[in-house]
Amino acid sequence: MVNKMMYNWKSWWRSLNKSNNFIIKLGVSVLLVGLAFRLLYNRSDFSPVSHTPFLENAQISAPTVISVDSQENTDQIPAQEYGTESIYSEGMCNIFIGDWVPYQGEPVYTNRSCGYIEDHQNCMKNGRPDTGYLYWRWKPRGCDLPRLDAERFLELMRNKSWAFIGDSISRNHVQSFLCVLSTVEKAVEVYHDENYKSRRWIFPLSNFTVSVIWSPFLAQAAIFEDINGVSTSEIELHLDILDKNWTEQYNSLDYMIISVGKWFIKTAIYYENNTILGCHSCPKRNFTDLGFNFAYRKIMRNVFDYITASNHKGTIFYRTTTPDHFEDGEWFSGGSCKRKVPVKKGEFELSEVNKILRDIELEEFEKASIKASENRVNLKLFDVNPLSLLRPDGHPGPYRFFQPFAKDKNAKVINDCLHWCLPGPIDSWNDLLMELVVNG
Ligand SMILES: *[C@@H]1O[C@H](CO)[C@@H](O)[C@H](O)[C@H]1NC(C)=O
Ligand SMILES: *[C@@H]1O[C@H](CO)[C@@H](O)[C@H](O)[C@H]1NC(C)=O
Ligand SMILES: *[C@@H]1O[C@H](CO)[C@@H](O)[C@H](O)[C@H]1NC(C)=O
Ligand SMILES: *[C@@H]1O[C@H](CO)[C@@H](O)[C@H](O)[C@H]1NC(C)=O
Ligand SMILES: *[C@@H]1O[C@H](CO)[C@@H](O)[C@H](O)[C@H]1NC(C)=O
Ligand SMILES: *[C@@H]1O[C@H](CO)[C@@H](O)[C@H](O)[C@H]1NC(C)=O
Repeated sequence: MVNKMMYNWKSWWRSLNKSNNFIIKLGVSVLLVGLAFRLLYNRSDFSPVSHTPFLENAQISAPTVISVDSQENTDQIPAQEYGTESIYSEGMCNIFIGDWVPYQGEPVYTNRSCGYIEDHQNCMKNGRPDTGYLYWRWKPRGCDLPRLDAERFLELMRNKSWAFIGDSISRNHVQSFLCVLSTVEKAVEVYHDENYKSRRWIFPLSNFTVSVIWSPFLAQAAIFEDINGVSTSEIELHLDILDKNWTEQYNSLDYMIISVGKWFIKTAIYYENNTILGCHSCPKRNFTDLGFNFAYRKIMRNVFDYITASNHKGTIFYRTTTPDHFEDGEWFSGGSCKRKVPVKKGEFELSEVNKILRDIELEEFEKASIKASENRVNLKLFDVNPLSLLRPDGHPGPYRFFQPFAKDKNAKVINDCLHWCLPGPIDSWNDLLMELVVNG
């Protein structure tokens, strides 16, 4: 058993060299710590890694800090409804409220026709055996949502630029976006940073620029992780300084989709005025544990203040954080996502952490949207959280890896129930974007 774990852990580790993905890195940190604890229990002279940004800490420390927020909301209308309904005026169709309905047609692209899909999300290539998850379409209640018309979209976007700003889910989305548009015209990569985290493409015929900008906190952060995701020190997060990675490009962009979330759960030390204010999940340090909700709210506020005061003439979407769907455990403790069909509303609960992130986003967005309209800044909520919650069937699960069961059909593989298979449910996000661009 232990040997097998070690074996799997090693192959997992190797696969990381190509990975920029945070959750997997977290997974390894946890595994490391898990192994360390295992040893700790058997041998008292072994000391566990103390500075790795693993999620376990977050979950242990979270309830003490966040109980006020989370309890307040338990008796209210489910989070997936109240945010959007108040933002849309009466009589308008809220395209974010609806159902997944069976769809007879083929997906717009395949793993063969689209070359922008990163291996970890290429579920077909990696051997996911079922394909039923591809045959669903998002149907808003009270109106129809047409497919993104790539030809028309590219024409509308002539000479324009878009950026997807955030973490690996933004990267997941940009790939889907490029795949859908590349049915008409192939995008050419014109820039990438050293680790392919920030990238830019141009559609030459339409002179349309698409970027993905790596900024997992939206704020300035020093991250002490090596390429394997092993952290040598806590993240130093400056709550009062926005990340130049996106602010430097902000004025030159016509459209933005901004979204973050899960990185906030990592162990971090919080700074303001370059002075330590406290931390999240740092029991060994003599700092006040402020909880990740504290940092999330502060940074959301700063981001929205920046946007609403900016005089920007383009369109800025704030995309709500997407839920994960681990069942029977967390990602570090054997959790998986084995479902093969969507669920109905109410059948899958947002996890506590996701709920906290979502509540903060909605509260801060609502305040910001008032300021935005006063200042004529076009800030919109791109509220894909509720519709994504209904798609536990859309994640790679074990098929994050190439043919994970080829050698051993009982192999123990850590599941990815956070990112999305491509093609897959998030292709619908593009249909929603087109609707918002054309009619929104
Ligand atoms: C696409 O997926 C199929 C399995 O559905 C696989 O045989 C093929 O190699 C994949 N091709 C690419 C280019 O990913
Ligand atoms: C796009 O830019 C070119 C070159 O600057 C210009 O000639 C053309 O009119 C522009 N088209 C649109 C739709 O803005
Ligand atoms: C492409 O669009 C940019 C604006 O984003 C414009 O400055 C440039 O002239 C355009 N180039 C062509 C060849 O149309
Ligand atoms: C900004 O982007 C660079 C390059 O992609 C990345 O290494 C860095 O971590 C990013 N900054 C923040 C604060 O995330
Ligand atoms: C940060 O500095 C400003 C100006 O120097 C000051 O007004 C503010 O109170 C400081 N905030 C904190 C948390 O120290
Ligand atoms: C922890 O911080 C408090 C208040 O800043 C201080 O009084 C105390 O001496 C510190 N303890 C240690 C062990 O540094």
